[in-house]
Amino acid sequence: MNCSHIEFCTDKTKIDLVQLQDLYKVTAFWAKNRSLSDIKIAITHSNPVVSVWDRQRLIGSARATSDGIYRATIWDVVIHPDYQGLGLGRKLVETIISHPLLNRVERVYLTTTHQQKFYQKIGFQENSTTTMVLYNRYPTPNELVKQSQSEEITAIV
Ligand SMILES: CC(C)(COP(=O)(O)OP(=O)(O)OC[C@H]1O[C@@H](n2cnc3c(N)ncnc32)[C@H](O)[C@@H]1OP(=O)(O)O)[C@@H](O)C(=O)NCCC(=O)NCCS
Repeated sequence: MNCSHIEFCTDKTKIDLVQLQDLYKVTAFWAKNRSLSDIKIAITHSNPVVSVWDRQRLIGSARATSDGIYRATIWDVVIHPDYQGLGLGRKLVETIISHPLLNRVERVYLTTTHQQKFYQKIGFQENSTTTMVLYNRYPTPNELVKQSQSEEITAIV
């Protein structure tokens, strides 16, 4: 496939959330069930967010959170299956790590279940010594809204 017309965009206001939700559904096993409202929260609080476009079609995306100098983390790197294996994933990650909010950062982290070899080709190393995770026990914003709605209903009844 000729990819010369494929565009990489760092303006997150251009992202079409419906297309992004569809892209996650077909590409990302960990993000298949994300709601539009939650995706909107994630995009709002991420910077940079890079999107990849074949004309009007969103075919790739990645986002990062960064303090600009010490630590950054990359999230949700996806290229649509129709466009994988063409070098676009590498360019997507290179675009995000060369962004001014990441290019001076001491350590850039990411988590991956299956794609270690892909990231190794870009310069990432496996790191089993420093990573911990908290599976949050607290209710999500959506759960809080549902909880307060059901309390209101109980109160009315
Ligand atoms: C992982 C993903 C983003 C890679 O995108 P891509 O456009 O297919 O990758 P590229 O064509 O840019 O590949 C770059 C290099 O990595 C290699 N590579 C890509 N995926 C690989 C894999 N799974 N195993 C080994 N090497 C891989 C390519 O062969 C290429 O090597 P080369 O530079 O020597 O030719 C894409 O496959 C994807 O979206 N997968 C599903 C979602 C996912 O798992 N995302 C990562 C979550 S952490």
